[in-house]
Amino acid sequence: MKKILVTGGLGFIGSHTVVELQNEGFEVLIIDDLSNSTIEVLDKITSITTIKPSYFNIDLKDKVAVQKFFKENKVAGVIHFAASKAVGESVERPLEYYENNIGSLVYLLKEMKANLVNNFIFSSSCTVYGQADELPITENASVKPAESPYGNTKKIGEEIIKDTTKVSEITAIALRYFNPIGAHKSAKIGELPIGVPQNLIPFVTQTAAGIRKELSVFGSDYPTSDGTAVRDYLHVVDLAKAHIVALRRLLSNNNKTSFEVFNIGTGRGNSVLEIIKSFEKVTGKKLNYKLVDRREGDITAAYADTTLANNELGWKAELTLDEALLSAWNWQQTL
Ligand code: UD1
Repeated sequence: MKKILVTGGLGFIGSHTVVELQNEGFEVLIIDDLSNSTIEVLDKITSITTIKPSYFNIDLKDKVAVQKFFKENKVAGVIHFAASKAVGESVERPLEYYENNIGSLVYLLKEMKANLVNNFIFSSSCTVYGQADELPITENASVKPAESPYGNTKKIGEEIIKDTTKVSEITAIALRYFNPIGAHKSAKIGELPIGVPQNLIPFVTQTAAGIRKELSVFGSDYPTSDGTAVRDYLHVVDLAKAHIVALRRLLSNNNKTSFEVFNIGTGRGNSVLEIIKSFEKVTGKKLNYKLVDRREGDITAAYADTTLANNELGWKAELTLDEALLSAWNWQQTL
């Protein structure tokens, strides 16, 4: 049984990926410092799969601890989720974001290199495209200057990995996620936003649950069909599965180059108002919302061209928007 290290394995996307890895027969080791997750997630994962992953409470900025981990644990690959991800916070505290997201990536790659761990999957983001000139967005679209330190850590992170693969045996795949939403069908794991949610779907579910009075729809004058911004909302379980196929590609040396990039989305764009309508339809809940000004830094529209992931990885999103929204609501009701 192959051992895989999942950093940030107790977080939103990490925990769903751990479940899928275990379902596929991998032995999972999790590193998570609990900075944006809770230890209860470990038991929730165990109750879904009946297998308890090994857990290490390590801050990846702790170089010595990372060294020790790799000396003591022989893993076949690393899926790296651990990173800070709040866009606004990154603007306020850029150095913390660079230290946390870049520092930890560098230590991780150094130890992988030293210990001959050669397979690396990186959590990247469609944020690297900024407002793309053409839709849908292919992997050939140009990478734009980042709008925030958070976005910059994804862009720089990809560059660091690419440079590393040129001078080592490490092979890597960066998955550029569009907008991951939803929760596991068991409603045992899902997204746990701290404080007021910044992302749309947690704000929607909290409004429906009565925790928030009203959802603000940021911008109704975008050049889109109904004036609200368009994104590619992807079920987190589909996204988790993309990591497994990417990992298998590296483990079986099926990658074409030592550093590959894939868009992971559904290929469909939905506006904020369409999301609200679909949510109301699948849950039967009426949402309080009002149209307000645009949010600074937001783009008009982004959705993926997924041809490369479809053809090369043999992956495509299978779950529907309605299923994703319903699963997010089921999860909210357990909180
Ligand atoms: C945001 C980040 C992106 C990051 C991603 C991680 C920004 C500008 N972008 O993407 O870099 O990779 O999260 O999850 O923060 N909306 C509302 N009302 C709300 C919240 C959101 O109308 O209360 C709208 C937004 O304006 C946007 C859409 O919903 O049009 C999706 O927003 P969000 O979930 O925050 O994702 P992104 O902004 O696409």
